[in-house]
Amino acid sequence: MTDVQPRILVIHGPNLNLLGQREPHVYGATTLEEINRRLLEKAERLKLAVEPLQTNHEGVMVEAIQKAVTGYAGIIINPAAFSHYSIAVRDALAAVPVPVIEVHLSNIHGREEFRRHSVTAPVVKGCITGLGPSGYLLALEAIARMMDGRDSI
Ligand code: DQA
Repeated sequence: MTDVQPRILVIHGPNLNLLGQREPHVYGATTLEEINRRLLEKAERLKLAVEPLQTNHEGVMVEAIQKAVTGYAGIIINPAAFSHYSIAVRDALAAVPVPVIEVHLSNIHGREEFRRHSVTAPVVKGCITGLGPSGYLLALEAIARMMDGRDSI
């Protein structure tokens, strides 16, 4: 018997490939590779299959979200700068029937004015902002809890 694990797409947006070297006073010292490693480790415990993707391109992000409409149980996304202005990413997320959790490493509400508004936040299930790499792990945990009915909202 094959044990098919629910798939969770994790999308990291522009410049997040530079984590670890990029403004460490804002985003910390943890690399994207390390964040993905922690996610994969936690997913194994939760019996989920995490598929991480990083892109610096808006169209690639839109297409990845569109593909996730079938075959995925949830999406974790840090749209990075696109959060603040991409209606294309927002519309793609709005079309997805599975739970989407938006994550930001920094607290966008405590930063520059232009970062305080997310155009994508209103169409996702929930947002985690300011908790650093833990935000991704908490998002994964939340999706697992929603899937097994422990958190029904
Ligand atoms: C970010 C916050 C955004 O404002 C910024 O453009 C990023 C990263 C975060 O994770 O804190 O690239 O999404």
